[in-house]
Amino acid sequence: MTGANSLGRAIARLAALKRDGAPIVMVTAYDVVSARVAEAAGVDIVLVGDSAANVVLGYDSTQQVSVDELLVLARAARRGAPTLPLVCDLPFGSYELSDDQAVATARLFVAEADCDAVKIEGGGVIADRARAIVGAGIAVMAHVGLLPQQVEPGSAFQVKGRGADEALAIARAAFELERAGCFAIVIEAVPEAITAAIVARLRIPSIGIGAGRATDGQVLVFHDLVGLSGARIPRFVQQYAALFEPMVSGVRTYARDVRSHRFPTEAHIYKMELDQLAQFRARFDQLGVPEDK
Ligand code: KIV
Repeated sequence: MTGANSLGRAIARLAALKRDGAPIVMVTAYDVVSARVAEAAGVDIVLVGDSAANVVLGYDSTQQVSVDELLVLARAARRGAPTLPLVCDLPFGSYELSDDQAVATARLFVAEADCDAVKIEGGGVIADRARAIVGAGIAVMAHVGLLPQQVEPGSAFQVKGRGADEALAIARAAFELERAGCFAIVIEAVPEAITAAIVARLRIPSIGIGAGRATDGQVLVFHDLVGLSGARIPRFVQQYAALFEPMVSGVRTYARDVRSHRFPTEAHIYKMELDQLAQFRARFDQLGVPEDK
């Protein structure tokens, strides 16, 4: 995929899956390895989520990740997943202020990380930002329900839309974002009944996380899905692998082997021709000892 064709390709891929009734599979990736795994596993679309703030960079909140940090991760993900549609979150503070700011930041992710689309969180004024980015020829994925960028550092994530007023606000935002030209929408942590009602009136593909079974697709955070972070995972996550403990065990065994001189062994060393070694030794003796020794 290349940024130049971003709008067409990302939209076409998801729209075709929705039309065929084939569930869309999205996963986050933040580096070359997670992106290679996503590509090898045959997912439909990769999100360089600003959840990288928490799962990769160790911040308390997605509010803390910068444009430069996310660009580095997005470039690495693109190298690992050269053929998949790649969407990147625009970081908190990089698009809300004005249409010009939103378009300039979106352009950076397309030009410098070869992203096919960007994702932004929320409705209201954010729908205007989405319209401006789409107007500049860049595909936008919307995000409603729980908006991690609105959660203050250290505060817990909470389900959204359990009350009728809040649920209606989420529905209004979703329809507004569709009208603004977003090609797909993420719905996060919303009761299934509300998601189902919204999705039934949307024409664009919907991708859920903690939003139940009615969406056109699902997304999970890579580190949660494969059990990589060692941190507590949310209720809505299904963990499909548990990689953290085997990694700890591997590094623990390595440390034990180094400390007990069991690693490295004969199998791990480089050898050389004996005549070269003899020459080295003869000339090495002439080198003398460094003065500060
Ligand atoms: O940042 C992220 O990983 C996301 C997904 C949870 C949708 O926005």
